[in-house]
Amino acid sequence: MSIQGMTRRQFVGTASLGAVAAMASRTVPAYGNLGGNAGKLALQGGRPVRSKPWPTWPVWDRSAEDSVLAVLRSGNWYRGQGKTVTQFEEAYAKLLGAKRCVCMVNGTNSLLTAMHALDVGVGDEVIVSPYTFIATYNVVLNSSALPVFADTDPETFQINPDTIEERITERTRAIMPVHILGIPANMDRIMAIAKKHNLVVIEDACQAWMAQWRGKSCGAIGDLGCFSFQNSKHLPCGEGGAVVGNDDALMDRVHSFHNCGRPFGSVPRTSGYPIIGTNRRMTEYQAAILLNQIQRLEADTARRWENGQYLTSQIKNIPGIIPCRLYEGTTRAVFHLYPFRYKKEHFNNAPRSKFMAALSAEGIPCSGGYGPQYRDGLIEAALTSKNFTRSFPKARLDQYRKELNYPGNEQLCEEAVWIGQNMLLTEKADMDDIANAIRKVHDNRDKLA
Ligand SMILES: Cc1ncc(COP(=O)(O)O)c(C=O)c1O
Repeated sequence: MSIQGMTRRQFVGTASLGAVAAMASRTVPAYGNLGGNAGKLALQGGRPVRSKPWPTWPVWDRSAEDSVLAVLRSGNWYRGQGKTVTQFEEAYAKLLGAKRCVCMVNGTNSLLTAMHALDVGVGDEVIVSPYTFIATYNVVLNSSALPVFADTDPETFQINPDTIEERITERTRAIMPVHILGIPANMDRIMAIAKKHNLVVIEDACQAWMAQWRGKSCGAIGDLGCFSFQNSKHLPCGEGGAVVGNDDALMDRVHSFHNCGRPFGSVPRTSGYPIIGTNRRMTEYQAAILLNQIQRLEADTARRWENGQYLTSQIKNIPGIIPCRLYEGTTRAVFHLYPFRYKKEHFNNAPRSKFMAALSAEGIPCSGGYGPQYRDGLIEAALTSKNFTRSFPKARLDQYRKELNYPGNEQLCEEAVWIGQNMLLTEKADMDDIANAIRKVHDNRDKLA
């Protein structure tokens, strides 16, 4: 499979191995950081800039094995019998400065739970970012609500706040900003628009553990925030998720709903099940892994942030390479993926796929990221479904189809290049390898076409 054709997860999973492992036995190149005339491109048989492998992910040690075994041996494998899930919820809420946290089976179901708890569903419209993992689309569609995409700002990779208000209709109930790639969306603007139009805000922080906006944790700013703990994530346990929030009554409903609608806190105690519910409970094993993983999150996060900023300083002057711009309110980005944009006019008009192949051959695995998924067929399948044709007037759905056009997003889908988070868990010299490889490809641009 081409690197461009890889999903984000496949990319994150292979970034540390793949091309790099294949080169591990070759000698370290002499290509320096001066940007002078490069050696031959590795793609054409030259020596790669880097032959050292990148760190693998996830990382664990003996203490994690002990924690999981302790749960196993206790026989208390479900949260109703053990205390591990509750312990993790308390630790994660504290880390984020949020009042409450409820763990879930995964990020997708955390988002579905948040929508349900805020009563966003059938016949409603939700403003979402088109530049995101498909789960963000799916949770809105699965709730029989219309995902109304605001455009993407290609400079910041985030939802463009200037394009939100024009998409609000009388059916709009929520904004779902995604802090995509672990980079904060413009929460000042989003919260102000939500307030003005009386909308709820559900933060998709599934890639943004410990990212901060003006000192506040992403995910703890809107009405509810959702996280993923899937294997590739910075706080991983295989599959897992969480909803965080600061409103006790709302979080009581989140808890009750995820536990079959059983009473919890202010959800009234009746003979059995006072509200509609489902089962999205996390197991004690998952929480045992998370309690172990959370110990490394702060140090890893600080390192990714430091290395990400250093990398930006090293590549920003390479012609045709545009690092992601951070909004002024960003206190910390966590770079689940480190992104930049590729301008082919500065690379002898070589397509991005050729650039990425050349960079990967230099020992720097990379990917092209998301495509314009709203054209993949899932939206049309939803719009023609029974749920949607019953819940929305035909005129609204026809109008919606006409508006599925996002120039900023289309541009970004063509220009983006991502580098995996594991590659930022290294030293400055490793960031120099990335910058040197990009510079080498640029110096050899006449050989790329
Ligand atoms: C932005 C975004 N939203 C939602 C999800 C869904 O999370 P999960 O895979 O845990 O269901 C993910 C996971 O990759 C994500 O990246």
